[in-house]
Amino acid sequence: MRFDLITVLPELLESPLNHSIMKRAQNKGLLEVHVHNLREYAEGKHRQVDDYAFGGGAGMVMKVEPIAACLDKLLAERRYDAVIYTTPDGQTLDQPTCNRLSLLENVIVLCGHYKGVDERIREYYINLEISIGDYVLSGGELAAAVIVDAVGRLIPGVLNDETSALSDSFQDGLLAPPVYTRPASWRGMDVPEVLLSGHERRIEEWRYEQSLERTQRRRPDLLHPQ
Ligand code: 6GU
Repeated sequence: MRFDLITVLPELLESPLNHSIMKRAQNKGLLEVHVHNLREYAEGKHRQVDDYAFGGGAGMVMKVEPIAACLDKLLAERRYDAVIYTTPDGQTLDQPTCNRLSLLENVIVLCGHYKGVDERIREYYINLEISIGDYVLSGGELAAAVIVDAVGRLIPGVLNDETSALSDSFQDGLLAPPVYTRPASWRGMDVPEVLLSGHERRIEEWRYEQSLERTQRRRPDLLHPQ
């Protein structure tokens, strides 16, 4: 899977995507991440990527021409399955969306900044607008990194244990159960007996009950959606 990320702050995207699982995914050739500096597509002495909003008001708007130049170049190079724009007014990213995106081949993510992009970019190029939650970030870069991480780890072969993505919270609509490792006893706190029993069916039942109970307590909305 290939991600092309378009941003005014490429530095912000380098580090989070070049460690741990994302680094391994790229080293294994399962994931490609290409970061494009929008300023390099801007014309003029100042390579201006933003401008004042028509109609006034505080905050700058990302100009159409640099974004169009970058997107036109990419779209001429290969077929893209999705052109995503990160914005607080997009649809909230969830696990089913990540699962669907992980089946795609080539994906562009345009990182919103300032007061956002000129609306015409959204109308002309964008087919998916994503927010990562109901709070405001200073830019879409961290959201783009979240998308690449959440989607990239689902590509077959990226995770060591192929089944471990299936046991994630949300993957079956439930939160994950508690987990423990050695020592079995710490400051008088003992690991639940059943986990030491070696009894596979009882362990699976216990984990399922814990998942259900934890979801009921912490996220009842997942069990009873309106
Ligand atoms: Cl995608 N962008 C910004 N700027 N803020 C956000 C967001 C995105 N998702 C949640 N907050």
